[in-house]
Amino acid sequence: MNRFGWKLFSSFFGVGALLASSCGGPEGDGQAAEDPDAAIMAKVDSVLALMTLEEKAGQMLNLGLAALLEGPFYTFRDTLVFDQAKLDSLLGVYGAGSVQNLASFPMTPEQWQATIAYLQQYVRDNTRLGIPLLYGIDAVHGANYTAGAVMTPQQINLAATFNPEMARQAGQITAYELRACRIPWNYSPVLDVARHPLWGRMFESFGEDSYLTARMGVAMIQGMQGDDLAGPTGVLACAKHFIGYGASYNGKDRSPVVMPEHMMRETLLPPFKAAIDAGLLSLMVSSGSMNGVPSHIDKHLLTDLLKGELGFKGVVISDWNDIDNLHKIHRVAADEREAVKLSVLAGLDMCMEPYDASFAEHVVELVNAGELPLARIDDAVRRILYVKFKLGLFEDPMMEGQEYPKFSSDEFDGMALAAAIESMTLLKNKDSILPFSGQETVLLTGVGAHSLNYLNGGWSRTWSGQDTAYNDTDKMTLLEALRAEMGDDKVLYSPGSTYDELLDVEDALRQARQADRVVVCLGERPATEKPSDIDELEFPEAQLRLVRELAKAGKPIVLVLLEARPRIFREVEPLADAVLLAYLPGNEGGRAIAQTLVGKANPSGRLPYTYPRFSGSLWTYDHSLSDERDVNFGLDGFQPQYPFGHGLSYTSFAYEDLRLDSDSIAHGDTLWVSLRVRNAGQRAGKDAVLMFLTDEVASLSPPVKRLRHFEKVELAPGESRDLRWPILPSDLEFINTDNQSVWEPGLFTVSIGDLKASFYLKKNN
Ligand code: GLC
Repeated sequence: MNRFGWKLFSSFFGVGALLASSCGGPEGDGQAAEDPDAAIMAKVDSVLALMTLEEKAGQMLNLGLAALLEGPFYTFRDTLVFDQAKLDSLLGVYGAGSVQNLASFPMTPEQWQATIAYLQQYVRDNTRLGIPLLYGIDAVHGANYTAGAVMTPQQINLAATFNPEMARQAGQITAYELRACRIPWNYSPVLDVARHPLWGRMFESFGEDSYLTARMGVAMIQGMQGDDLAGPTGVLACAKHFIGYGASYNGKDRSPVVMPEHMMRETLLPPFKAAIDAGLLSLMVSSGSMNGVPSHIDKHLLTDLLKGELGFKGVVISDWNDIDNLHKIHRVAADEREAVKLSVLAGLDMCMEPYDASFAEHVVELVNAGELPLARIDDAVRRILYVKFKLGLFEDPMMEGQEYPKFSSDEFDGMALAAAIESMTLLKNKDSILPFSGQETVLLTGVGAHSLNYLNGGWSRTWSGQDTAYNDTDKMTLLEALRAEMGDDKVLYSPGSTYDELLDVEDALRQARQADRVVVCLGERPATEKPSDIDELEFPEAQLRLVRELAKAGKPIVLVLLEARPRIFREVEPLADAVLLAYLPGNEGGRAIAQTLVGKANPSGRLPYTYPRFSGSLWTYDHSLSDERDVNFGLDGFQPQYPFGHGLSYTSFAYEDLRLDSDSIAHGDTLWVSLRVRNAGQRAGKDAVLMFLTDEVASLSPPVKRLRHFEKVELAPGESRDLRWPILPSDLEFINTDNQSVWEPGLFTVSIGDLKASFYLKKNN
């Protein structure tokens, strides 16, 4: 018996039988025993040695589940029926190594288990080596494609909590509920830094800041992957979309990025680098292009930078049908064959080719023609087998006998609710109109007021998130939740408007006159990817008009915003006494908003992006000073509706005694920053303390400030906490035009709230 052991492979797959007789290797190799990766790589190489070129090409193929089902790929389904001929061709003949996505409707965990077991058994029984399939899915806010699964807040809400623990827990719930479905691979998190507020997938990101994205992304991956990818609750994360998806110059989906490499490295790369350092083993390529080069054929990006410089050991997968798009959309390849060649040469390991197996055919043909080196194919397949081994798929692909009693549990719902509550971002609260005392009569209106879909957004039971048929009837809309908090008789309701049409505004106005307060829940129609493109950032006129009409009642108005990105509402903002930004808080969002409105919960979210006032003035907070110049030759040109990091509380926090332990340091020395935070108000609350750093003068025009640390603290009234943080060498560096991380001596300023302190970074002797 070799060291891999018959037992290791025999439980499920044919490859075990082959390996048991064919693979050699020294018995009890001490090195392999010490280094788990070396042991895995030895197994990988053993499997690779058995494979034909056709089998290797098949492993590189990631099919859509619908390609294996009866009927056309795109069709409405409420049951899943495999098509034997398609199975025999795509899995049997071509040997696809991976399948992904849903069959148009959300299945129960039991249905998922049966589906995946069926596919795994098919490859075991009908392919020569029986290499297990790697099933992948988009579970981007909980296991959103599984009926009954907890739908956590979207990523943008997690970012707004400024509490990485919330992201870690969301990752953990997602992984647990995916494994309950026997799905081991998740196309999440989105690590694109959302540099353009028009981008319709802003809600899938952690916002506009690189550092915040890195901290939250790492926490989410750690929650998802756990300590053991092969364990019953570990799922392989797939960070996406490498790189620049959220930074196109026009803000549209899958549009070109124009950005010099040093800026890409400064702003977009750090979250991916941090994720790789934290154990990321799969990554999806961006559908867009950077400086004219589609990412899918960018060898410098995928091979030199990612696999070389950053040492990425995992699988690089394309996005949806994107190899075809190299030819059809990007026009950088004359035909699909050339597109396959360019992308694999660039470093692509797996092709998300949802519809057919043409990719695998091209790979075989290109290798046979001498146009693709076999070594590149072997490298790709090695990476794929590596993650399959890491996930324990060869041993126990179905987690046989494993129970998941916490699926859809109150415990998980409670965690989702806590995250939603912590994301609530109070942007305005004139005369402390919020929270309600509970005695008021409230009119609730607006498109988001009585809809689970508007709370959840895209990727909720279906791709678009618009289908009401799959809503969880045990979850509460804002209307239901507010009535549960205040009593039915205290909460009047009028629909007000659809997304872009006024409804019975007379009814809304009549009821507003009867009420003491008016809550208008403005909302954004659920969507993702191309259908999320919009042509103007303002809320649709019908929704703004509803606010203007209701103002005629003369009652205090509270705006609640459910939106995928910062929709501009400048014109009606003065009519609102309070504004609560809820983003897309998920299935527990109704309760989170209601509890915040009545003061059962104290808001502590902070804006993870700059909220624009005008659609012609779109800047991120870390712009350069030259962006602040105004028409009067002053520096007053940066006037967002609300700045990055803004967020109010029902209590107030005082920042005191900001100190640096030295007024000058050499690069590499540790400088300590300390500060006291005090709850100066009457309620317990949480506060996200944000530390920014400004390099006052640098050889590349520096950003006015950069977020360099944050911590969420919870304080009782009157309580205070002393915080102490180090400034790291990397906090003082920037990427120069030679793409090097450098530091320059000079003055730096630390700012926390309104407090500032400066120090000198000394020249080296
Ligand atoms: C897409 C998305 C990507 C997703 C993939 C699979 O087109 O851009 O985020 O993971 O398809 O559904």
